[in-house]
Amino acid sequence: MTTHGRGHEGALSPDLFRRLDESPDSEFYALPRFVTHIDDATIAALTAFYRERLPARARVLDLMSSWVSHLPADVEYAGVAGLGMNAEELARNPRLTERVVQDLNVTPALPWHDAIFDFVLNAVSIQYLTRPVEVFAEVRRVLRPGGAHIVATSHRMFPTKAIAAWHVLEPADRLRLICGYIQLAGGYETPCVLDRSPPDADPLWIVLASAAAS
Ligand SMILES: C[S@@+](CC[C@H](N)C(=O)[O-])C[C@H]1O[C@@H](n2cnc3c(N)ncnc32)[C@H](O)[C@@H]1O
Repeated sequence: MTTHGRGHEGALSPDLFRRLDESPDSEFYALPRFVTHIDDATIAALTAFYRERLPARARVLDLMSSWVSHLPADVEYAGVAGLGMNAEELARNPRLTERVVQDLNVTPALPWHDAIFDFVLNAVSIQYLTRPVEVFAEVRRVLRPGGAHIVATSHRMFPTKAIAAWHVLEPADRLRLICGYIQLAGGYETPCVLDRSPPDADPLWIVLASAAAS
């Protein structure tokens, strides 16, 4: 197995990752939430972005997944694996062909072989990761070279579970921090940041990083 980014988490201050609620995430996510976390227009903008970028038959991993993946309903992928905290939510997600319940803040290692996904998605959840550099290194490991890690963010959050950085940083600095995770994890091309915010709705900012050839 190849490894990227091991030992670099310490380059970022632990203060960035403290949370008001440090109880196990398994307790917070024990009950399913069959809700959406961004406005319908913002979901539509994210789905349109996925339609543009993810070709049919791509192999997809939806990290921090729930009962919705926001993928276009009419596009067939080779497979969509989902990893999240609540089994009932994942069971209800019609796009998933594989489901894994795992706390990434406890176990950042992903249960897949190297280079098996074309795209790894993370929608409106990055603010809950306390060990993001380790997770991003794992995402790089499971991506094939030339594949892409797509992190979509907005401005809502569960405040007690979001890391301290999300409480103190402005949106532009949060996006810089995500780019920092990518740089520290290693093995990615320089990320690009896209603003796909629809008018009069929750914003949508996307960080896209391609996996560099190893
Ligand atoms: C705001 S919801 C977003 C869900 C979905 N991605 C969406 O776009 O609607 C946050 C998601 O992050 C997942 N999550 C939160 N903490 C996690 C952790 N420690 N490990 C793995 N997943 C986590 C939860 O299961 C939940 O589905």
